[in-house]
Amino acid sequence: MNICIIYHSETGNTRHAAQHIASACDGKLVEVTDKTGYNRLTGFLVRCKMAMGEEKTLIEPGSLDVSGYDQLVFGSPVWAFKPTPAIHAAIDSLVGCEGKKATAFCTHGGKPGQTAELFQKWIEARGMKCVGNTNIHQNDIENEKKTKEMVSVLIKDLS
Ligand SMILES: Cc1cc2nc3c(=O)[nH]c(=O)nc-3n(C[C@H](O)[C@H](O)[C@H](O)COP(=O)(O)O)c2cc1C
Repeated sequence: MNICIIYHSETGNTRHAAQHIASACDGKLVEVTDKTGYNRLTGFLVRCKMAMGEEKTLIEPGSLDVSGYDQLVFGSPVWAFKPTPAIHAAIDSLVGCEGKKATAFCTHGGKPGQTAELFQKWIEARGMKCVGNTNIHQNDIENEKKTKEMVSVLIKDLS
């Protein structure tokens, strides 16, 4: 199984979770960077407003060819109960994703809200099959039991 884990992370939680998933399945990690210049004072509110509006933002890399992978895993922090504009843009930017199996996870502070539903909607809108969706609290990312549970939902047919 050739698995690609595509994630966005601002403060490292989602990156750490993605690294645990990659270790479990020998997956390829692709971090997506948000190129928006958020203001230090207003940035929190702007991030929330953009996420609430289900916006997409400018990202690096600008497009991702995933045609060589059997399965994709998407990861995002929760912002205002939704996935981030950067992961939304990443899903939108995929090349060669149609028909592939995909799963998604988020890291959060206790209220993941609509994140799972939106991941499923955006994944299916790109012609992929959403076969798993989970979340992990930011305090549980180094908890081996919780991490194993997350991996078991995200990685199908691990062999
Ligand atoms: C702008 C912003 C909005 C957030 N909104 C939520 C939220 O609605 N629900 C929640 O549980 N956590 C929320 N959080 C907490 C993050 O989802 C959590 O800390 C996450 O693990 C951060 O991931 P990262 O370190 O990969 O960036 C928010 C954090 C930020 C910066």
